[in-house]
Amino acid sequence: MTQQSAAPVILIDDDRDLLKATAQTLELAGFSVSAFSMASRALAAIDSDFAGVVVSDIRMPDIDGLQLFDRILLLDPDIPVILITGHGDVAMAVKAIKDGAYDFITKPFAADGLAQSVQRAAEKRRLTMENRALREAGELAQDSLPLIGQTPAMERLRRTLRQIADTDVDVLVTGETGSGKEVVAGLLHRWSRRAKGNFVALNCGTLPESVIESELFGHEAGAFTGAQKKRIGRVEHSSGGTLFLDEIESMPASTQVRMLRVLEMREVMPLGTNDLRPVDLRVVAAAKIDLGDPRQRGDFREDLYYRLNVVTVSIPPLRERRDDIALLFGYFAERAATRFHRPVPALPVAVQSHLREHDWPGNVRELAHFAERFVLGLEEIGGSSSLRPINPNTAIPLPERLERYEADIIRETLGRNGGDVRRTVEALGIPRKTFYDKLQRHGIVRGDFSK
Ligand SMILES: Nc1ncnc2c1ncn2[C@@H]1O[C@H](COP(=O)(O)OP(=O)(O)OP(=O)(O)O)[C@@H](O)[C@H]1O
Ligand SMILES: [Mg+2]
Repeated sequence: MTQQSAAPVILIDDDRDLLKATAQTLELAGFSVSAFSMASRALAAIDSDFAGVVVSDIRMPDIDGLQLFDRILLLDPDIPVILITGHGDVAMAVKAIKDGAYDFITKPFAADGLAQSVQRAAEKRRLTMENRALREAGELAQDSLPLIGQTPAMERLRRTLRQIADTDVDVLVTGETGSGKEVVAGLLHRWSRRAKGNFVALNCGTLPESVIESELFGHEAGAFTGAQKKRIGRVEHSSGGTLFLDEIESMPASTQVRMLRVLEMREVMPLGTNDLRPVDLRVVAAAKIDLGDPRQRGDFREDLYYRLNVVTVSIPPLRERRDDIALLFGYFAERAATRFHRPVPALPVAVQSHLREHDWPGNVRELAHFAERFVLGLEEIGGSSSLRPINPNTAIPLPERLERYEADIIRETLGRNGGDVRRTVEALGIPRKTFYDKLQRHGIVRGDFSK
């Protein structure tokens, strides 16, 4: 038999002799019994983490078994309660079963009849607790779908998000492609009291203009050709939760007018109706451009911009928080390794320099893809090709490029020679003293390369 810890049973009976006898029966059957002659005492020992079964007599002074059952329902409706009834109380017990009691046993009862019922109830409770633990772990894992970054800019961003998440204020999130706007919107939702409601996303840039309004506001059957069935719009669907309007800069002009109304009045009128339906929503909008700049804004309505711009959160591009690159790369590489069942390969010097020097126009998304390709061995960077002067698109001035190029060569050579100074110096064809000067200037630690 597998060694499982004895399931706890809380047993309540005001008849002390019977209490003692029943407790013994259950202990013999392998349960860990706490016996009480008063329900109020027993209640003090029960909370929603209670991992076992409650067995209670019905007729008792003080709180009776049915009242006890009611209180337990409030604490945690999944705790199994088994009621012991005198023969006159069967109707009562049957009703309790309808209300969710686990079982009832009529007095006098056979010891193993009770033990079996408790056994089944304990098993059910164990499964409930196991599922809960799994779910909680899952939620934690989700919550750790994280906003990674330790640069001051990211710390600041995280602080701002914490501050505003639980207010109902609408938020405009700006940032280049792949910089994490959707991650931020998701966090604003998860960190708010709206987390239990829906997080409803709509990309204003990918839906054709003709569809976007009925998607957003919903419609009655027959509101327009093709509208066969009534449809609840996403605005209404997100009531109690968060509406994420992605690429808001692409929202068609007529939709902007209607959206402005929703934001101001907090009510929505589905197409083809005159109903005004109240909505309790928080809007998080994302834009890739600076809507505050009239030249970039184009024909995006200024009033809608101001309405959305109560709080703006801007996410800096990855190249402006380079110190986070290694951390992010490590995270994505680990994630990819787990996903693809591959080890994380050692990091060649060439890849290190790519991480440092590339401009990351696709921001975190590009870095994530790079990490995945690296783990899969699909990245071509490495070998001599990495020694080409760095990405010609970068706006780094020539002297700095040469500096980095030199540092790269030194790292590469050190790496190839396992950190051996004599061989490295020979390969580089420079005097030892010059070599050490350069190490210092580039902040290269020779020991990092020794095998
Ligand atoms: N700080 C971060 N920590 C961890 N993962 C991140 C971070 N920022 C972005 N990501 C990841 O990078 C990818 C791109 O992020 P996201 O989709 O939020 O970008 P976006 O700003 O919405 O881009 P687009 O404008 O192209 O829609 C996602 O897989 C996301 O999980
Ligand atoms: Mg996005």
